[in-house]
Amino acid sequence: MGTAMWSRRSFLRMAGAAGTAAFALKAGAIERVTEAAQSIAKMTPEEVAQDEFFWREIQLAFKLDRTLINLNNGFTSPTPRVALESVWRYMDMVNMLPVHYQGQIAGNVQTLRLRMAKEFGCDPEEVALTRGASEALQIVQNGIDLKPGDEVVTTDQDYPRMLTTWDQRMRREGIKVTRFQFPVPTTQDDLYRRFEKAISPRTKVFHFTHITNLTAQLFPVQRLSRLARSKGIVTIVDGAHALGQFPFKLRDLECDAYGVSLHKWLLAPLGNGLLYVRRDMIPKFWPLQAAPEQQDNDIRKFESIGTHPWAIRAALGEALAFHQAIGAERKAARLRFLTLRWANALKAHPRIKILSELSDPPQAWGVAAVNIEGIDVRALAKFLMDNYRIVAVPLVGGAPPNSVFDYQALRVSPNVYTTLEEIDTFVQAMEDALKNGVPEDMARIPGYPADIVV
Ligand SMILES: Cc1ncc(COP(=O)(O)O)c(C=O)c1O
Repeated sequence: MGTAMWSRRSFLRMAGAAGTAAFALKAGAIERVTEAAQSIAKMTPEEVAQDEFFWREIQLAFKLDRTLINLNNGFTSPTPRVALESVWRYMDMVNMLPVHYQGQIAGNVQTLRLRMAKEFGCDPEEVALTRGASEALQIVQNGIDLKPGDEVVTTDQDYPRMLTTWDQRMRREGIKVTRFQFPVPTTQDDLYRRFEKAISPRTKVFHFTHITNLTAQLFPVQRLSRLARSKGIVTIVDGAHALGQFPFKLRDLECDAYGVSLHKWLLAPLGNGLLYVRRDMIPKFWPLQAAPEQQDNDIRKFESIGTHPWAIRAALGEALAFHQAIGAERKAARLRFLTLRWANALKAHPRIKILSELSDPPQAWGVAAVNIEGIDVRALAKFLMDNYRIVAVPLVGGAPPNSVFDYQALRVSPNVYTTLEEIDTFVQAMEDALKNGVPEDMARIPGYPADIVV
């Protein structure tokens, strides 16, 4: 990091801390700010990713417990203070006269539909705001008409709750669900071929993740959507982990429906999600909670869920502004930089196995999975917690009917507020485990997916 690479915000914070008088409007200071703004503007996202002054500002935007090292941001992320405080503010406001203010907020969140559509590249009339990815995806999973014998093709590494949703339709209505396994990491060509091979004359739906919640395996969404469309198959894509973690435009994916967890990588307050439905597909999906016929073609039919905490939804506005202030490209570059920092430090060790694609070109950002040969991953997770206060989730393939995968791995997911010191502590802890082993009797903590939701 060059010493001249001061961000404007770093400087302003220092100016505040030192007392405005000390810095105020001195010619030199202004010049430095101007210089800093110019140097940041010219930097590539990869250069900004290594500018600790810039990221210190982001670190300070959160109220965290830094006695713990959170490497499980894939679960849900802490939301920045500015968004959390706006939850309280909107709560206070609604509470003053619920019938009045609730209606106002309900009307005002139309701006969020417009802003989300602009930021993530689709028509505002294709955006429904939900309480999470489970709700978004279940709306379309349960909302599509299928006859007994109609087939859904999906994978064993899809999210257990979403698989359970298809299984319930199988039990209730006699649809057929075909799941296939795949190695990790694998290529996009391999995943394409597996879907292509699985198609039968009764296949009506492809359901897959944009990236998995396990090893962050990336799927060729656009190619699969085109393949599906050419055969009259509907594509439902689970983007719980993708949107907000790395940049892309929804319309470029060409899928029919896409569900997102905004409390993950968009850093929104808990209880925010998004459902994108391609415009001409809106009438093809029934809403989960009934809506009047006049709304058949209206994306808002998916939002009719009765009285709910509007403050949480309204606060999405601040989370989006925070995301935009960092910049999607810079955020993705920083997440990849943090991931590569630990992965590159560990990968040369013969017992280290990395299950995410981090080589040329890397296809992961803030989520990657690693295994130490010969060590039970549950014992490893417990060792990391007990000795280093590191929170990271052990992935252990579970039994049917939920997710079945034949590997163990530790999922490591830092975030924009993670410090280099925290990453380096993780490396040190893993080296300790490699050198000295971990106690065997620590293996008795629950495994995924039976007991831990990740
Ligand atoms: C791949 C995937 N899909 C769906 C979900 C469900 O998201 P939510 O908790 O927002 O309902 C998750 C949550 O971890 C997930 O990882």
